[in-house]
Amino acid sequence: MTNQHKPSGEKEARLARPKAGPAGFEAIGTDYRVELQGRLQAIFRSPAGQSLLQAALAQGVALPSSCRNGTCRACLCKLVAGEIAYRIEWPGLSREEKAEGWILPCVAESRSDLRLFLPG
Ligand code: FES
Repeated sequence: MTNQHKPSGEKEARLARPKAGPAGFEAIGTDYRVELQGRLQAIFRSPAGQSLLQAALAQGVALPSSCRNGTCRACLCKLVAGEIAYRIEWPGLSREEKAEGWILPCVAESRSDLRLFLPG
């Protein structure tokens, strides 16, 4: 069972979908495009079967991390636009944090092009 998550702002999520997205925000091949904003600014591909953290690190984007299993929260980012699915049933986030759009990239995979915000 996957744990689908969308940011609370459905209008923003629609902006990231390839069919309705603005120019320059289309998927790259079968991979999805991830735009990282905030403390780190980067664009990287998110291939199917890789966590967002794995994809970022493989492409030289140094997202912070530690446990890589969804418990320490070192990788905490905000999902600004797009849709993800979790690899585990209970990522270390409260219901309120999920509702606010916070995600854990080490245990999340993209299901659309994404825009993420790294606080700090
Ligand atoms: S690296 Fe620990 S929760 Fe993501």
